Amino acid sequence: MTAPTADLLNELLTRARDAAQAASVLLLSPPADLAIETKATPTDAVTVMDKRSESLLVSHLLDGRESDGVLGEEGSNRPGTSGFRWVIDPIDGTVNYLYGLPGWSVCVGLEYEGEPIVGVVSAPTYGVTYYAARGLGAFRETSGASEPISPSHVADLPMALTATGFGYASTQRAFQAEILRTLLPEIRDIRRAGSAAVDICWVADGKVDAVYEKGLNPWDYLAASVIAREAGAVVAGLDGRGPNADLTIAANPVLFAKFHDRLKQLGAGKPV
Ligand code: IPD
Ligand code: CA
Repeated sequence: MTAPTADLLNELLTRARDAAQAASVLLLSPPADLAIETKATPTDAVTVMDKRSESLLVSHLLDGRESDGVLGEEGSNRPGTSGFRWVIDPIDGTVNYLYGLPGWSVCVGLEYEGEPIVGVVSAPTYGVTYYAARGLGAFRETSGASEPISPSHVADLPMALTATGFGYASTQRAFQAEILRTLLPEIRDIRRAGSAAVDICWVADGKVDAVYEKGLNPWDYLAASVIAREAGAVVAGLDGRGPNADLTIAANPVLFAKFHDRLKQLGAGKPV
């Protein structure tokens, strides 16, 4: 199959932005009872709004594009036949959402033949939507106005403001805490805002210098990875691999190699 043209990319990006916007509007009016259930651990929550947001996204994205695939955190999983697959997180940062804290986001990513090509991360409580399509640049939209974004120029670890997050399983959290115990004295400071997708967009927008996290899934990083790469940041796993569950790293291009090498030295990508 031939790669999508710029016109098609723009059309798919608009579809992704519209879907993320509709889901954000839905999520801003939660019901009194969020009907909380738990998943892998008692702290890994899913609410009725995660499920409603996912079904809204799927019906919006596949309307007239029934042969596309879709992968969503709350269970959507079909391969499709068109070569395109939507990768969605209906709420990234569910714990923030549950507690009424700002910073959760809606993530809509799109792959073509396995390559990420479109990304939208909408964080309505911050009043911002980040979006990008491959080759078309990365943008921050606030109050209806879009501006191109770019990462910071901080080149050294001691000056690097670094975002991270933690998994839900306590063995994984203990491992992550050990890595952070060594890293924290070597960097400027740490931010744990609660949405991995927003963390990666902050690298794209120069609001943090780097991010790393173990245990992320494609719905957490795929949309944001398109935005960060289009902005000029580097998003990868260890040793030239793509971002993955062992370790996802994003940083500005002058910091990335040093940050990657230190994380590797610390064993941050080891299986737990
Ligand atoms: C979580 C958030 C959080 C990160 C966790 C993710 P969820 O996603 O991105 O920041 O630290 O690893 O699981 O569960 O809220 O969609
Ligand atoms: Ca989620």
